[in-house]
Amino acid sequence: MDKLVIRGGKRISGTIAASGSKNSALPVIAATLLAPDGNFTINRIPDLQDVRTFSNLLEYLGAEISFADNVLQVSTANLKSVEAPYELVKKMRASIYVLGPLLSRIGHTRVSLPGGCAFGPRPVDLHIMAMEKLGARIVIEKGYIDAQVIGSKLRGARIDFPISSVGATGNALMAAVTAEGTTILGNAAIEPEIECLCHFLQKMGANISGVGTTTLVIEGVDRLHAVAFDNIFDRIEAGTLLCAAAITKGEITVTGLNPHHLDAVLKAFAEAGCTVTTGFDSITLAAPDKLKPTDVTAKPYPCFPTDMQAQWMALMTQAEGVSNITDKIYHERFNHIPELNRLGARIDIRENQAVVHGPQVLTGTKVMSTDLRASACLVLAGLVAGETTEVLRVYHLDRGYEKIERKLTALGADIERVKYQELS
Ligand code: UD1
Repeated sequence: MDKLVIRGGKRISGTIAASGSKNSALPVIAATLLAPDGNFTINRIPDLQDVRTFSNLLEYLGAEISFADNVLQVSTANLKSVEAPYELVKKMRASIYVLGPLLSRIGHTRVSLPGGCAFGPRPVDLHIMAMEKLGARIVIEKGYIDAQVIGSKLRGARIDFPISSVGATGNALMAAVTAEGTTILGNAAIEPEIECLCHFLQKMGANISGVGTTTLVIEGVDRLHAVAFDNIFDRIEAGTLLCAAAITKGEITVTGLNPHHLDAVLKAFAEAGCTVTTGFDSITLAAPDKLKPTDVTAKPYPCFPTDMQAQWMALMTQAEGVSNITDKIYHERFNHIPELNRLGARIDIRENQAVVHGPQVLTGTKVMSTDLRASACLVLAGLVAGETTEVLRVYHLDRGYEKIERKLTALGADIERVKYQELS
């Protein structure tokens, strides 16, 4: 296995380009299943374990894929399976994104239920509800979702999501674009990654209106075609790099992104005393001498993202006072707290709220990654901790951050990747 060894105390400063977004790349790749002929070229695909896992799933289904220099080429002309097996789905929950496209194109699919995850239960009932509304018969058996179109084609329907779900909105969109008639998605997720998926589907020939709003109206079309497309940049990676500068009293410019995708996070940085300036496609952040405490609550976009909550907590361990951090999306997403406390942080949990008592002097030791963003949080803590921090099990980090140690090294960090064996 790999670990990251960080000798803290170095200031993060400089200019760095954001990588392509993982959370838009996955549904976009899934949507290629909707075009029965032609070759897709998708640019700015981050070279990440999750992208490789998803590509393996598509190859299992029969797609031909090549991936080099962040360009993914896909043809899904010759599909040979409609099953997303447990062995692949268990590696990545986002595999459920093949449900909508396969149902739409083939009329039948079997997708393994993803199971739990490191930060609590993550049901897929809304994905299933959406497929049923569009005219699929769903049977759950032996850990699989077996979905079959009733009749010859999916039929447009009104689907009101009781809570905002990125994944269920994406799946419903991909199922609806070639359904017969009109589909209306109410309380649809408006995350930039869903907007990106809509733009991709529109370029393929889909008829979607209301993009960027909570009501999406889809007029089904007969056929979609392969296209070339530029993926968007990763707002969570960008936010994490901004945190790296803020926690080390540094100054950073992250380029190549839409700053508005980070509005809520930039507002929190400003409240923490950072000086933030935005350009057309860049964000510059200069850290203050003393960070101020902040209260943030993670909620669906455009609010503060749950995927930045752990990194924000690492930052707030250095603020002068008490910060409150609440996660309204994943109430139990607090696995990073015991590890941060092992580094010397003082964080309590009170009724689903983390109370961070800052500032605390952190001192490096061995800490364990438990999920993707928790790993990022520990790397950030390591950047400011005294002595050496070893972040073990970085395979979690590799799922979502492209070349993170190279990027941080270029910005001044003392960080290296080392192979190790865990004691059994
Ligand atoms: C996506 C992101 C993930 C992010 C999350 C919330 C990808 C690949 N992953 O995950 O990084 O943390 O959005 O912004 O894009 N829910 C249900 N039933 C369902 C589906 C969801 O109850 O069928 C609940 C979830 O448990 C959660 C909330 O809805 O509490 C939002 O989850 P959702 O937006 O669906 O997350 P994902 O799409 O899985």
